[in-house]
Amino acid sequence: MKTVTAFVGSARKRGLTYIAARQFLDSLESFGDVNGEIVFLSEYNVGVCRGCKACFLRGEERCPLKDDRDVLIEKIMASDGVVFASPNYSFQVSAIMKTFLDRLGFVFHRPRFHGKTFTGIVAQGIYGGGKVVKYFDFVGGGLGFNVVKGSCVTALEPMVEKDRRKMYQTIVRQSKRFHAQLFRPTHPEPSTFQLMAFRMSRTSMKLTLGDDNRDYTYYRDHGWFDSGYYYPAKLGPFKRAVGAIFDCVAARMFKPTGA
Ligand SMILES: Cc1cc2nc3c(=O)[nH]c(=O)nc-3n(C[C@H](O)[C@H](O)[C@H](O)COP(=O)(O)O)c2cc1C
Repeated sequence: MKTVTAFVGSARKRGLTYIAARQFLDSLESFGDVNGEIVFLSEYNVGVCRGCKACFLRGEERCPLKDDRDVLIEKIMASDGVVFASPNYSFQVSAIMKTFLDRLGFVFHRPRFHGKTFTGIVAQGIYGGGKVVKYFDFVGGGLGFNVVKGSCVTALEPMVEKDRRKMYQTIVRQSKRFHAQLFRPTHPEPSTFQLMAFRMSRTSMKLTLGDDNRDYTYYRDHGWFDSGYYYPAKLGPFKRAVGAIFDCVAARMFKPTGA
């Protein structure tokens, strides 16, 4: 059995965001090999990031906010698949969701959700959610997940039958894509863009940071200064060659002054 957790970023317990996330999990569970759980972010104490950057520089355990951040991260770690579901508020995710994402900011520096499947769901009244879906897709990749393209559902209240049907079809289609990814190999070959992001950041960190910096020690301790990618991915001759080029480019860009 695989475990999938949907994090709902709406304060409304029976709003469109919840309905879409619930339908998504129901559809996944109908395959018979998935257990789903809804987590309402509004039920957890997640403080607003103060911007001190202690998590980036000295480690996430140095965060001055003592709240439920790590409980939520544990829920992600215990899941094979993760859904971030948010209403479209003023053409972005809700503040509840954004507050949570900001508290995961250090994970963009030190991605740790590799091997897990991710998707985003955006619920809206009228317009603008497409860009929020793209934002979720990007965020998922940055956190290390294997991303399944997200979707946006649109409906005004009270919901009419046409919107209900359209939403159901969208969600079921997305859940099928998600289910397929959930059972694929967990460590796929990275895209050229992903490889570039990894090689450029690891080489720049190696050259510009020292062991008083948590990004540096995290990368060093995971063997990422010498590995082909975050995880042992099979890289073909083309990717190996381009990877080496990205390392060289970063080495030139970040060469310590005076060297
Ligand atoms: C503060 C606020 C901002 C909103 N901004 C947008 C928006 O930019 N575009 C849109 O289509 N709907 C917008 N809506 C409508 C919500 O996206 C829509 O009602 C959605 O269903 C809310 O999710 P919920 O039902 O889970 O609460 C907004 C609603 C609120 C309360």
